[in-house]
Amino acid sequence: MKKTLSLMALMLALSGCQSGGSEPVNGPQSLRGEVPVAATAPVAAVAQYPSKGTSVAVTSVGQPPVIPHSADYPINLDKNGCISCHRGGKRKMAESHFDDGKVDGKYYQCKACHVPQAENF
Ligand code: HEC
Ligand code: HEC
Repeated sequence: MKKTLSLMALMLALSGCQSGGSEPVNGPQSLRGEVPVAATAPVAAVAQYPSKGTSVAVTSVGQPPVIPHSADYPINLDKNGCISCHRGGKRKMAESHFDDGKVDGKYYQCKACHVPQAENF
């Protein structure tokens, strides 16, 4: 008897959910949001980086400076697109990054510490 009652209660609860008529909370959500297919959805913003020659202020001690430009350069076994520009010159990597004049292996994965910072996100 007790079992039957709780089963009925469960069925009532379930049917209560269904009769609500609204979309299930965790149902599929369109990436277009409420925009109908016929209309044009706004284009996702393109990252805007600080103008050339700028450094973004470091805000805590020991913080790796953020990258004030796009960071779409390959970093793999054959190639590290960051080193060519940052081996020397005005924006030379910090001395800590070098070991005997060569880039220290510990610092090879630049983006493990440095992240690009766009102005519009
Ligand atoms: C084509 C040359 C070039 C490449 C490639 C390049 N950078 Fe830069 N980087 C610069 C210049 C120039 C600046 C100075 C800011 C500016 O003019 O955009 C800079 C600034 C920086 C800064 C800020 C330094 C500071 O003093 O605040 C960091 C960090 C940095 N880059 C990291 C990287 C990383 C990591 C990569 C690879 C994903 C990379 N860069 C690839 C030229 C380059
Ligand atoms: C383990 C974390 C780490 C990795 C990996 C790393 N950096 Fe850095 N980087 C730092 C820190 C922290 C600083 C701030 C100076 C310092 O403490 O040595 C810095 C400073 C810099 C600067 C600014 C130097 C200056 O004097 O203004 C440049 C440019 C830079 N790094 C580029 C790179 C590039 C390019 C790579 C990859 C080849 C790289 N970093 C890998 C942590 C890292």
